[in-house]
Amino acid sequence: MEVKADARKFYEIECDALVVNIYEGEKPEEGALAELDKRSSGVITSLIENGELSGKSGEIVYLHNPGEIAAKRLLLLGGGKLADYNNDVVRRMIGTAARFLRAKNVRKFAFLRRSQLPLDGAIQAGVEGALLSLWDADKYKTSEKEEKIIEQMIVATVEGDSQSLAQSAERGRILAEAANLAREIINEPSNFMTPTELARQAEEVAQKCGLELDILDEARMKELGMGALLGVSQGSAEPAKMIVMTYTPSAEPVSNETIAIVGKGVTFDTGGISIKPADGMEKMKYDMAGGATTIAAMRAIAQLKPAINVIGIVPAVENMPGGRAQRPGDVVRSMAGKTIEVINTDAEGRLILCDAVAYAIKLGATKIVDLATLTGAVSIALGDVYVAVLGNDQEWIDAVINAGRASGEKIWQLPLDREYRDQIKSDIADIKNVGGRKAGTITGAYFIREFVGDTPWAHLDIAGTAWNDSSKPYLSVGPTGICVRTLVNLVNQMAS
Ligand code: BES
Ligand code: MN
Ligand code: ZN
Repeated sequence: MEVKADARKFYEIECDALVVNIYEGEKPEEGALAELDKRSSGVITSLIENGELSGKSGEIVYLHNPGEIAAKRLLLLGGGKLADYNNDVVRRMIGTAARFLRAKNVRKFAFLRRSQLPLDGAIQAGVEGALLSLWDADKYKTSEKEEKIIEQMIVATVEGDSQSLAQSAERGRILAEAANLAREIINEPSNFMTPTELARQAEEVAQKCGLELDILDEARMKELGMGALLGVSQGSAEPAKMIVMTYTPSAEPVSNETIAIVGKGVTFDTGGISIKPADGMEKMKYDMAGGATTIAAMRAIAQLKPAINVIGIVPAVENMPGGRAQRPGDVVRSMAGKTIEVINTDAEGRLILCDAVAYAIKLGATKIVDLATLTGAVSIALGDVYVAVLGNDQEWIDAVINAGRASGEKIWQLPLDREYRDQIKSDIADIKNVGGRKAGTITGAYFIREFVGDTPWAHLDIAGTAWNDSSKPYLSVGPTGICVRTLVNLVNQMAS
């Protein structure tokens, strides 16, 4: 999809469809909206008077032969309250428009800029919205698909110089394409997306973008004493991999910080011997969403070149039952030296992450953010709306939440007080891997906390938000790519 700005009058821009947002309660009394109403012989007035268009967010009116405008069609979208209009509304609205118009075979559409939002951010959000909305999960359908492609998005605006517009559009493209790469990887079924294949994906990204790459095999992990991770993997015929991607800025870094992004890469989670029920188990192919997100974020970071050191670490394993699988009650020794009683083999994410964060510290990380589809409990607490964040350093947690806000990704902090530590006390080892029914997301995070020491650390539980169960006007069913853009923004903010 090509993006360009056009400074002509909106009614002079030739395209398949012109998209115009109407704010709640708005009347076509002045400016572009009055002009459009006049040129379409009062259709906007009539839609409003008949109650077919009130400007509420989500409203869509699609018109053919809209009158004296160069566009062949007119798409009117409810923009919601003017006071609530922000980049995230832009993102969703342009996403809705792009997905809707593609289904109508539109190839070239124009969006009339009506808001006062700073242009750069709005353009970036618009490009993100369009590209994110156009992604679909149906890769393996073999029926002949009609080639419907949006080729061009035009922003009808007289402001801004074309160079800064192109830069904002390019930023939006890099971020959205990274999120879509994550979705592509997450969407792959587990018979294809094994730990070995996940490592190969990382290798491809590293080669293309000039990142340093190290893939630890099981022998090296054993040498390093990663008993917690290897315990999870031992029931699988697929060998585990620890993927390490390193970004080093070419310019002098702004500080001597090294940020580590650590993503859970369980390519399939059966639960192991503590096996999950059959119903819905197929979804556990997305248990590597954190890992895919890490790989994709590293690609965008390599492309945007912030002046700060970043490492991306993905512990990749498959959690299977079998004759060699670990048993409930087994005790494993983690790389950090702590011993763990494995009460439930389905609480495997924390077992691989504890060795991965310990390795991040060994590699020199001074700030850690991990992300994982760690607990079903996070969906009970926050549904599919908010990502949960927990951590040991309020400043770092706030930085993560703010980076999320800038990306339109909602993140809510849960507490991590010392009192919760009691729930993961073990009678025979240093710690156990489950904390009972209460506060499952918190005890899961607390487990990881035990391995980060004093290093500022934030943990994102994306189990509720990484998969979209029902399609939305601006988003396909399937993986969402949640947190890719947040993490890239976080790194950029730390570098400026
Ligand atoms: N991968 C799951 C968490 C999950 C559940 C992700 C549903 C997405 C949707 C994780 O490994 C898991 O099984 N967690 C257990 C932990 C429990 C055994 C303490 C859970 O949430 O039930
Ligand atoms: Mn599990
Ligand atoms: Zn899992």
